[in-house]
Amino acid sequence: MELSEIMRTNGTCRFYKPNPVSDEILAQVLDASRWGPSGGNRQPLRFIAVRDQKKKKALKDLYLPIWNSYLEGVNSGENRVGGRSKIIEDADHFANHLHEIPILLVVCARLADVHPTDVNLDRLSVVGGASIYPALQNVLLAARARELGTALTTLLCVVEPQVKDLLGIPEDVSTAAMVTIGWPANPFPKKLTRRPLTEFAFTDHYNEGAISS
Ligand SMILES: Cc1cc2nc3c(=O)[nH]c(=O)nc-3n(C[C@H](O)[C@H](O)[C@H](O)COP(=O)(O)O)c2cc1C
Repeated sequence: MELSEIMRTNGTCRFYKPNPVSDEILAQVLDASRWGPSGGNRQPLRFIAVRDQKKKKALKDLYLPIWNSYLEGVNSGENRVGGRSKIIEDADHFANHLHEIPILLVVCARLADVHPTDVNLDRLSVVGGASIYPALQNVLLAARARELGTALTTLLCVVEPQVKDLLGIPEDVSTAAMVTIGWPANPFPKKLTRRPLTEFAFTDHYNEGAISS
């Protein structure tokens, strides 16, 4: 499959078949992360592929209350969601059926290796994520290329101490995301809903010389 088609159709998969994903395919998909960049090539990423039914149920039990309180915020207008309300309906199904998905991939990072350059600015530090999420995106693309569905989520990071306890994650390693992996129950989307390039790509000056595709 052509790369641009993989990218354009790799939507967040919230409905999965129960069919298992083999160790071999999982290894191929995770191997793709190795080619991602990281500050100083320090490769901070660590993965725990949770397949054990009891542990998946425990992760779902941790996730669901956070999702439910996020949902309350959506309903009250406190949490803003771009796009259709169908997203919320689907995400609610996803949260309630999380433990039925074949693999819950807990994505971790050794923070000593993320090399953030913006920690002394008077704002939220974001640069550390650049050593984590590009490599993780390779996993999502490699999964799509094999017809596997994925969903990148971060709500579970709210309860990081409990997740670390459950999975034996050491003190110097943090959680960065949870990615669900399985065979999609529905066809992949033909194209994702995204803003046009002209709204966010500029030439020489912010908000001037919009670049169009
Ligand atoms: C940083 C980040 C955090 C996210 N966290 C969650 C989450 O905790 N739960 C969830 O159901 N979806 C989560 N998502 C998925 C988004 O809802 C999804 O990417 C967005 O709605 C676009 O969906 P689409 O790619 O299918 O168009 C997250 C996505 C990102 C990039």
